[in-house]
Amino acid sequence: MTDTIADLQLQHLDRLERHYAEVLSRLGYDGVLIYSGHPARHYGDDQFASFQAYGHFQHWIGQAYLAFSWLLIRPGHTPVLYLHAPDDFWHLPARLPDEAWTERVDIVEGRFEVPPALPHGRLAVVGDVSATRAESMGAEANPPALLVALDEGRVRKSGFEVACIGEANRQAMAGHGAAHDAFLAGGAELDVQLAYLKASRQREGEVPYGNIVGINEHGGVLHYQHYDTTPPARRHSLLVDAGHRFRGYCADITRTWAGPQADASFPALVEGVAGLQQRLIAGLRPGTDYVELHGHMHQGLAALLVEHGFVTSSVEAAVATGITRAFCPHGLGHLLGIQVHDVAGRCTADGTPLPAPADHPALRLTRELEPGMVVTIEPGLYVIPMLLNPLRQGPASRDVNWHNVDRLAPHGGIRIEDDLLITVNGAENLTREAE
Ligand code: GLY
Ligand code: MN
Ligand code: MN
Repeated sequence: MTDTIADLQLQHLDRLERHYAEVLSRLGYDGVLIYSGHPARHYGDDQFASFQAYGHFQHWIGQAYLAFSWLLIRPGHTPVLYLHAPDDFWHLPARLPDEAWTERVDIVEGRFEVPPALPHGRLAVVGDVSATRAESMGAEANPPALLVALDEGRVRKSGFEVACIGEANRQAMAGHGAAHDAFLAGGAELDVQLAYLKASRQREGEVPYGNIVGINEHGGVLHYQHYDTTPPARRHSLLVDAGHRFRGYCADITRTWAGPQADASFPALVEGVAGLQQRLIAGLRPGTDYVELHGHMHQGLAALLVEHGFVTSSVEAAVATGITRAFCPHGLGHLLGIQVHDVAGRCTADGTPLPAPADHPALRLTRELEPGMVVTIEPGLYVIPMLLNPLRQGPASRDVNWHNVDRLAPHGGIRIEDDLLITVNGAENLTREAE
């Protein structure tokens, strides 16, 4: 019989308790207080920005939006959740869901803009807390060695975490289908965004990252952040990069579609990027060097650029001269979990930095893959004038067919992104399983 999500979450808590006990004892702490954080107030106003709780707080209880709340972890003691839920007739006070984990923590409700009193002992406080405030509480703020160890505890996902990312993918994929339909029906970016939110059942302030909904050239703006309210006269393409959050855990998915006025060559290029993505996914297994796989992405992009008539030199030359970097300045992907760009992607398990290669500074994952990691694989190919103009003026310009690049430009770009669990002998595609 398969475990329910409640069973899996209880097993996840057992694992967390063991990990925190080991880490705290190794580093000589009696306990750690985790602050959920609080939303920023607009300057000179009484309105607040949207908010999501600190990752290590979510790691225990999966509550992404609890503000001014604290979780005290002391090995050998039941965790204590200080839940900020003041009486308030302007707002609905915070309430916890009816989930099994609530039986595993002591819950103290009250006002906690001021932190709770701490027990005696050597304690750390982690989260958005200043050193001065921590000192006044008798605790150390954000000790680096502790943060490294706690981050590392998020790298290999538990069964519960994988189930949550799977569910986030299912809800996100419902949104992607509806987004495509809204585009085909002639919608503007805002219509596509609203269709996505409706089908994936989430409000805009609670998405794990700002949905990227780019029609035409906007698909070439990597983190495009606006939603045009009127549809363009001609619709060449749509790129949607949008996710979901389930009990704290994120989906991060991108799809690109041809529009009714797409150039006849565009669907084949989208298919080419999708095929490259599948070949890169086939290279995922424990021990895979992600930096090397990122290099394979550039080889594959170069092959596509040559095959589709954008580049006239060899594949090797297109990579060596930096042509592929101008067409794709971002990394192959990143760790995924409570944060869309999850922690510890650029260091070893003991926190030794593993910086990205100098000519690929945007690569967010530089470590070897291990079972339990969840990563994205997201090759992309874009027309970004800011990057292509210097290429056009440099020596490699003669290797580029600019006529074809200019025909591609109104389509903005292509990105195909899935979320993958590394297993003992390969990878499981959590996004395709959710289709
Ligand atoms: N959605 C941001 C990214 O794909 O990394
Ligand atoms: Mn991503
Ligand atoms: Mn993405």
